[in-house]
Amino acid sequence: MPMEILESPAAMRDCCRRLRAQGSLGFVPTMGALHAGHMSLIAASRQRDAASVASIFVNPAQFGPQEDFSRYPRPREADLAQLEQAGIAAVFLPTSAVMYPEGYASYVEVEGLSERLCGRSRPGHFRGVATVVLKLCQIVNPERAYFGQKDAAQVAVLRRMFHDFNCDWEMIVCPIVREPDGLALSSRNQYLSPAQRQSALALSRALRAMAEAHAAGRRSPAQLLACGRKILDAEAGLRLDYLEAVDVQTLLPVADAAAGTLIAVAAWAGSTRLIDNCVLA
Ligand code: PAJ
Repeated sequence: MPMEILESPAAMRDCCRRLRAQGSLGFVPTMGALHAGHMSLIAASRQRDAASVASIFVNPAQFGPQEDFSRYPRPREADLAQLEQAGIAAVFLPTSAVMYPEGYASYVEVEGLSERLCGRSRPGHFRGVATVVLKLCQIVNPERAYFGQKDAAQVAVLRRMFHDFNCDWEMIVCPIVREPDGLALSSRNQYLSPAQRQSALALSRALRAMAEAHAAGRRSPAQLLACGRKILDAEAGLRLDYLEAVDVQTLLPVADAAAGTLIAVAAWAGSTRLIDNCVLA
C-alpha cells in the first residue's frame, strides 16, 4: 500500500479511523528533518502496532520570536522517502494556517512543569508543544503515541497533560539515539560547524562522567553537578544554559541523587541550542 500524504485534519482523521478499525494504530509526531532518532520511534511503532502514522509539522507555537522557526530545516522529499521506506501508512503534513486558522484561541498550559528546565529559557515553548500534541493526537486518535527520551522535559509535560486530560493514548518513550562519539542526534546538529560539533561532545561527556561518579557511589547532587560543570566549563565553545539533577516527573531539583534521577543539560554552541540528558541507574 502506498503511503498516504494528508494535509487536512478531516482527511487525516478519516484515514486514521480506517486504520484503527483494522488493528492497533501507532503515532509518531515530528517536526521533520528526520534522523535515526526519529526513525527509532517509527521502528518501535512498526514493531508493536498493526499500522503506524507520522506527522511532520514545524509548529510555530513552540518557537520564541528570536528562535530558529524560519530556518528550521524542511527537507520534505527526503523525509517522505524515509517514512515510506519505514512502512508508515500515512503522514499528516498540515500547514500553519490549517493548524492555527484565523480566530484560533485555544492553548494548553501545563502549569509549573512548563516553566522548568527548557521552559525557563524558552517561555511559551511547552505551551506550544502541549497544544500541538493534543491537537495532533485528537486528530489521529492513536492507541499509542511515541516520544523520545532525548526531550525529557517534553516527556514530563506531555505525560502530565495526558493524565490531566484523561487521554487514553498510551505514551511510549524510546531511548536516546546517539552518534558513535556520543552526540545525541538532533535536527539542529546540522547547524553546527565542525568546531562547534566538537564542543557539543562535552554535553554527553559531562553526563557520562556524572553517571560514572554516581555509579562509584557519589549521591550528593551538588557533587555530581560540580563534576559535570567542570567538564562543560572547560569547553570554551559552549555557553551553559542549565545543568540540573531533577525528579523525572516533577522536574524539580532533588535533594538526593537516587536511582531514577534525571540529569538534564542544555547549552549553546554559537546560536545553536543543544540538549541532552541521562537517567541515573
Ligand atoms: P522533533 O524534534 O522533530 O522530535 C520528534 C520526536 O523525536 C520527539 O519525541 C523527540 O524526542 C524524538 N527524538 C529527537 N531526537 C531523538 C534522539 N536522538 N533519540 C531519540 N528520540 C529522538 O519533539 C518535537 O519534534 C516536537 O516538540 C513535537 C513533539 C513533534 C511537537 O511539535
